[in-house]
Amino acid sequence: MTYAALTGWGMYVPERVLSNADLERIVDTSDEWIVQRTGIRERRIAGPGETSATMGVRAARQALDRAGVDPRDIDILVVATSTPDQLMPSAACVVQTELGAVRAGPMDVNAACSGFAYGLAVGTQFVRSGTSKTVLVIGTDTLSRFLNYQDRGTCILFGDGAGAVVLQATDEPTGVLSIDLGAIPNTGEMLEIPGGGSAHPASPETLDQKLHYMTMQGREVFKHAVRAMGESTLKVIADAGLTPDQVSLLIPHQANIRIIDAMAKRLELPMHQVFVNIDRYGNTSAASIPIAMCEAQEAGLLKRGDHLAITAFGGGLTWGSALIRWSV
Ligand code: ACO
Repeated sequence: MTYAALTGWGMYVPERVLSNADLERIVDTSDEWIVQRTGIRERRIAGPGETSATMGVRAARQALDRAGVDPRDIDILVVATSTPDQLMPSAACVVQTELGAVRAGPMDVNAACSGFAYGLAVGTQFVRSGTSKTVLVIGTDTLSRFLNYQDRGTCILFGDGAGAVVLQATDEPTGVLSIDLGAIPNTGEMLEIPGGGSAHPASPETLDQKLHYMTMQGREVFKHAVRAMGESTLKVIADAGLTPDQVSLLIPHQANIRIIDAMAKRLELPMHQVFVNIDRYGNTSAASIPIAMCEAQEAGLLKRGDHLAITAFGGGLTWGSALIRWSV
């Protein structure tokens, strides 16, 4: 049996910090409201010239260095993003060129904030089926370019960033042990960027109607997120033949501290076994989980053989969870 070991991890966040105090000067909000309702204190915003692909490349270089993998040895390159640099070519093609991953098959995967779980699932399947030996999975998003900074219901929530992992074939039972992906039908309008695609191609009218911005029905998304992430996490734990008390760390998508608290209660996990960095980065969409993985590893919270549960929820409305045995 072949498994996909996680042998490298890396992250990148832009330098520019946008604090709650900064947002108080832009929209009718307060630091107190944002902290109490979301747990966010600040987020990073991409600078001029920074894009989902450029941030992804920075995270990928770190992950490849840690794994000791030459970019020319990557077989498959998956970029999870809902904010590619352009509609065409894919962000993965841009990353391939920048990294010099000349042999890699590049592809984008779009499941919004759940994207990294989907990318990890795709990458793991390529390795476990024996098709590929080395896969790079990146989660990267630049949602600041799609936010309406007059809409206090969305602009306070999101930040930019990227995270990456390297998967390598091994005989050892490690890496992703179980995965659960899904979406709730007929909920697309609850969280969307309607303009710029084939339904509403960019035009003066779509700009006037602000269709190029993200819109969200926050309260509805919140309720679906708590339920889907809770059920999906319990499923991947059970599918791996484990019980929640055998999970050493839960990394939930960093969307709202109240969603994270609800998840911890549902799984009866003490908060020190639940990773939280939403205060510093806000919701970085597909980058949220790989960034958290890097920081958890650096904080000494992940050791070889530990069982880590990841779970995410986002536009679609999609969810994605995985139970991972930490490999190194
Ligand atoms: N500052 C001050 N007041 C605000 C703000 C703000 N930034 N935003 C909303 N309010 C007000 C509202 O206008 C409302 O006022 P009203 O009662 O007078 O009408 C009040 O606060 C409550 O608004 P709600 O929307 O009900 O607030 P809620 O407690 O639901 O928090 C939030 C809003 C933070 C958006 C929450 O619903 C949430 O986190 N939703 C989930 C988001 C999520 O998980 N997204 C999934 C991933 S994203 C992706 O895939 C790209």
